[in-house]
Amino acid sequence: MSPPSKAIVYENHGSPDSVTRVVMLPPVEVRENDVCVKMIAAPINPSDINQIEGVYPVRPPVPAVGGIEGVGQVYTVGSMVKSLSLGDFVIPSPLSSGTWQTYVVKDESMWHKIDKRCPIEYAATITVNPLSALRMLEDFVSLKSGDSVVQNGATSMVGQCIIQLARLCGIRTINIIRDRVGTDVTKEKLKALGADIVVSESQLNEKNFKSHLGNLPEPVMGFNCIGGNVASLVVKTLREGGTMVTYGAMSKKPITVSTTSFIFKDLSLRGFWLHRWMHLEKVKECRKMIDYLIGLARDGKLKYETELVPFEDFATALDKAMGKRGNHPKQVLKF
Ligand SMILES: NC(=O)c1ccc[n+]([C@@H]2O[C@H](COP(=O)([O-])OP(=O)(O)OC[C@H]3O[C@@H](n4cnc5c(N)ncnc54)[C@H](OP(=O)(O)O)[C@@H]3O)[C@@H](O)[C@H]2O)c1
Repeated sequence: MSPPSKAIVYENHGSPDSVTRVVMLPPVEVRENDVCVKMIAAPINPSDINQIEGVYPVRPPVPAVGGIEGVGQVYTVGSMVKSLSLGDFVIPSPLSSGTWQTYVVKDESMWHKIDKRCPIEYAATITVNPLSALRMLEDFVSLKSGDSVVQNGATSMVGQCIIQLARLCGIRTINIIRDRVGTDVTKEKLKALGADIVVSESQLNEKNFKSHLGNLPEPVMGFNCIGGNVASLVVKTLREGGTMVTYGAMSKKPITVSTTSFIFKDLSLRGFWLHRWMHLEKVKECRKMIDYLIGLARDGKLKYETELVPFEDFATALDKAMGKRGNHPKQVLKF
């Protein structure tokens, strides 16, 4: 049997700050092919919030434990388990629900052993955002060294990964951030990650917006995780025949694209969803990519901001993740 597990559970869909609560779940049986993992850390991603709200296409039956990614250490193994041993560091792969708890029991095949030298805040967050960034850079347009891409929401974790993964292939990035106090500091932070150009939304709304884009070639591809008018800022910088991939909707507004962009630039609008991609029986392929990303994070070649928060402070971390307390790095629960 597993030890009892302290978990963040929701019994109904709704605003996560009102429907989640901490409960002790009773021990569960560790069957012959099962592995019981003591969780070390797990992030609060926007999709976790949407899942609890009940507005995400994937809805685990309630009552459910929150979270879909994280890292833990093997605590006990069933009698038939061959590939994992006590103390191994593992992540759920493919992603699976219920990581916001102290002990998780799943079939051996659901766990992927990772390099222990990767810092836990990266190991806990390596799938949802970095893997999405990698896939989007590779799956839609055949990008070459010297090409440029444009993205909004550049401060997001996906955005930070796009900057660095693009840079590793010689691809230049134009990065749109929202206007806020401390814009200059944010610009410098993104440039330190390798961003070529960082512009605010208001700068791109100016008539002479091109003056802010330096000498980079017009972007062949764009990434949109905000929607609304901020999507149109990506579109207006794309070159003729360019493609914009939408993967998020942080503003909760529909995408606005001018008719003229379609007619005169012949643009393509595409969509990306990691969940759909992972379900194409790509577990093996996916684990190879995760190992690549884990290696980059271990070697300090992939960086992004996180804040490790004790599990007991879940309510505060949730408020921060929901944007109720201003701007904060990705909240990662530490169990
Ligand atoms: N389709 C997929 O498979 C997939 C995979 C991964 C992520 N996603 C989506 O990608 C998006 C980013 O995820 P993440 O975890 O990387 O985000 P994150 O690190 O939590 O950051 C959130 C980002 O959204 C920006 N933002 C929030 N509200 C905004 C608004 N009203 N207007 C403009 N910007 C706003 C924030 O800007 P500030 O820094 O200025 O606050 C920040 O850049 C989310 O929508 C997530 O669901 C989708």
